Amino acid sequence: MAERRKIIIDTDPGQDDAAAIMLAFASPDELEVLGLTAVAGNVPLSFTSRNLRIVCELCGRPDAAVYEGAEKPIARPQVTAEHVHGRTGLDGAELPEPTMTVRKTHAVDFIIETLRREPEGAVTLCTLGPLTNLALALEKAPDIAPRIRELVMMGGGFFEGGNITPAAEFNVYVDPEAAKIVFASGIPIVMMPLDVTHQLLTKKDRVAKIAALGTRPAQVLVDWLAFFERFDVEKYGSDGGPLHDPSVIAYLLKPELFSGRECNVEIETRSELTAGMTVVDWWRVSGRKANARVMRDVDADGFFELLTERVGRL
Ligand code: BDR
Ligand code: CA
Repeated sequence: MAERRKIIIDTDPGQDDAAAIMLAFASPDELEVLGLTAVAGNVPLSFTSRNLRIVCELCGRPDAAVYEGAEKPIARPQVTAEHVHGRTGLDGAELPEPTMTVRKTHAVDFIIETLRREPEGAVTLCTLGPLTNLALALEKAPDIAPRIRELVMMGGGFFEGGNITPAAEFNVYVDPEAAKIVFASGIPIVMMPLDVTHQLLTKKDRVAKIAALGTRPAQVLVDWLAFFERFDVEKYGSDGGPLHDPSVIAYLLKPELFSGRECNVEIETRSELTAGMTVVDWWRVSGRKANARVMRDVDADGFFELLTERVGRL
């Protein structure tokens, strides 16, 4: 059996974040979730923290270590996405308020302490929202950068353009200064941009297979997806919406589903028109050093088979 990877999930749930967390908790042979950190993103922090705990409880993991992090981006006013995710960020299914509580440590300190405590190169970071918490940790404790095994992050877009503006993807747009710090940090980065996630459509036949599992977690996920996809179905005219964030966890479980290349990525922070754009040097014309492994393609059917099989274990 392959080694068990230690991960921290940084997230702003979000229905697609919830699907990613479910995939991680359903895969204990491969992944050890050391902790989950909430960040402001899709909705304000009070909701992302609540939603994160709802998802942990749905997965039967009220024991999970949950931490609250940044309430706002490093240098900009907060931008949220209730138009996609609903008022709570997790609209679509009726679930009880969580009873588990958050740990007292701030998410940024949890990230720093964990990386200092664990052996060098042991911990993988998975970010499913704006990069604020990780950037603040790197600013506060630059010594952690070389200790990180890898960052796998959902964010950015290049041939596919943006989703919150014509140029920018939501997670990077919300806190471009944070993304700039992260991409300049020297951490090994795997980037899951819209180019990949727009291939992961919640098509009817795929969702029907999740529904057929017949379990409560599966039904809740189906209800969340039905709510979440309506915005993108209208926008793109597609069969289903893109399931962004589980791509991060799927990559850890089955990297062979994805293909991409090493290239340079810079973050636009100064322009008003293109703030948060990920300038990906796919054709290697800039001469700038590669700082990320940027994914471009995915075996979408293989991804949904994996997700369905794992959700069935919850
Ligand atoms: C990203 O933004 C959020 O709305 C989703 O949860 C995902 O992380 C997609 O642009
Ligand atoms: Ca997210």
